[in-house]
Amino acid sequence: MLIAGNWKMFKTQAETRAFCAAFEPPEGVDVIICPPFTSLVAAVESGLTVFAQNVHWADEGAFTGEISTAMLKELGVAGSLVGHSERRQHFGETDEGAARRAAAALAAGLRVIACVGELEAEREAGETEAVLRRQVSVLEPHPQLAVAYEPVWAVGTGKTATPEIAQEAHAFIKSLIDAPVLYGGSVKPENAAELLAQPDVDGALVGGAALEPDSFARICRAARAA
Ligand code: PGA
Repeated sequence: MLIAGNWKMFKTQAETRAFCAAFEPPEGVDVIICPPFTSLVAAVESGLTVFAQNVHWADEGAFTGEISTAMLKELGVAGSLVGHSERRQHFGETDEGAARRAAAALAAGLRVIACVGELEAEREAGETEAVLRRQVSVLEPHPQLAVAYEPVWAVGTGKTATPEIAQEAHAFIKSLIDAPVLYGGSVKPENAAELLAQPDVDGALVGGAALEPDSFARICRAARAA
């Protein structure tokens, strides 16, 4: 089981150190935190496994606001998210861009969690599978690649997918690519156990509930029990 906490644009270095001092991850669960770039060093120093929230495909160059694989590796960062729905919605990330980021990070020896998921309107129009096929088909399988299924209507909304909806989407994604599939979208200590009990749910990508050490630890413990 893999449980990753995506902190988004939350937590300064001081707040990161305070979280890490209070957070007690259980044994037997692959626990990852994804702080903002400026808090990566503080997180790595805690001894936790740390991913960035984004990474560029080029080794270096004129790419203002981007970060390279070598820059992350130098800090002791173990991997990166790519293609998060907030990158897609607010910053113009495309399927091809996310795939290039994933391929470059994997080639550089980083682990990757590639995020996919349909919009509410796409689900209502019966397009969920077509969207997931489009987003997943550009990814190359790799031993260090995990996919996160994050239905956009469930991210940060408090509207979690039912375990049945998650299971159906995860099974579909696994028919397209050989990779562990994490569920993301309003995962909380209260709903983690039933989501993680689904046969094709291999972990979780947690946003809001990963910001507080106790609630994130409770989700990690639910993963150990599952
Ligand atoms: P959420 O975010 O748990 O706050 O819905 C999940 C994510 O964005 O990865």
